[in-house]
Amino acid sequence: MDKTLGDLTNPTVDELEGLSGVHPGDRRVHSKGICCRAVFKPSGLAAGLTTARHLSDRGGEVEAIVRFSGSSSDPSLSDLLSPGKGMAVRFMPTDRDAAVLTAVNVPVFFAKTPASFLDLIKEANRLKGGGIEAIAAAAELAAHFPEARHAMAHIGKLRPPASYGTCRYYAIHAFLLVDREGKRRPAKFEWLPEIGVESLSIGKLKSLPADYLERDAAERLKKAPFRFRLHIVLGRESDPTDDPTLPWPDDRERIEAGVLEVTDVIAEPDGLVMDPTVTGTGIEPTDDPILHFRSPVYRESMRRRSRGE
Ligand code: HEM
Repeated sequence: MDKTLGDLTNPTVDELEGLSGVHPGDRRVHSKGICCRAVFKPSGLAAGLTTARHLSDRGGEVEAIVRFSGSSSDPSLSDLLSPGKGMAVRFMPTDRDAAVLTAVNVPVFFAKTPASFLDLIKEANRLKGGGIEAIAAAAELAAHFPEARHAMAHIGKLRPPASYGTCRYYAIHAFLLVDREGKRRPAKFEWLPEIGVESLSIGKLKSLPADYLERDAAERLKKAPFRFRLHIVLGRESDPTDDPTLPWPDDRERIEAGVLEVTDVIAEPDGLVMDPTVTGTGIEPTDDPILHFRSPVYRESMRRRSRGE
């Protein structure tokens, strides 16, 4: 592992714990969530671009586990109050060749490097310690960290979703698709909900319980699966692959790689870590430093939570 990443891992997890305290046994962020069983049905349209089995086997069905989550590190926080939502998918085309795709409901990230992420979280903790109100703190962070401006603008517009099944989720980082000849092309991934994106109306907000998203998922899935279309967005030479704070232009070619059907809620399997650098064959991480940093951080979060810390 890159030495710098190792040096920053523990301080970063410590600062994440500072955001809302330690909740023993829980993830250091995205602590509240539910796991579901799912099946991915590839369209075959990505077969010329990648050898990834879960994306290229037209007519095939690939088992998957999905974990939907709220972004907060506080598992008792109401679903209404943590605006960022996550959808992490572990595709399991075979027992040995799993591929992970983690996504959230904003298209860009706050920080370009692990060091600037750590500075930003430290500053957020300092502002919180000074008792500054959340909105004023967000404005201050945006002023001090210009690279966070796109992410802050998106987060400022988020409204509580009607359902985990009505969010559009972005994997944010660029990855490399590797074809049969070994040719590599940069690409991003997005999940589009088939029933459309829907937020809650103001009228409904007051009447909902803190865990309304979990209840909604359990109710809806009894009647029909959540269906998400997987879009692959193809990058051009000029598109940055090492900077998750920058969006790519809207006009990039898209391929619909298949449909994920989320069928039922299940207990969380032991040891589940959605490490985004576990890409399986046919997909590779890019040179994005944040993407690589997530791997040791997630392992450290897992190490602490598995010991009941
Ligand atoms: C410096 C950057 C980041 C840090 C330090 C970080 C940190 C963490 C940590 C500590 C966890 C809990 C891991 C576990 O205990 O299993 C987590 C989970 C998660 N993160 Fe990140 N993260 C970063 C960037 C991102 C980005 C860019 C995305 C968007 C794609 C993202 C999406 C998620 C999701 C969806 C989960 C929940 C995974 C699950 O359900 O198991 N994170 N993150």
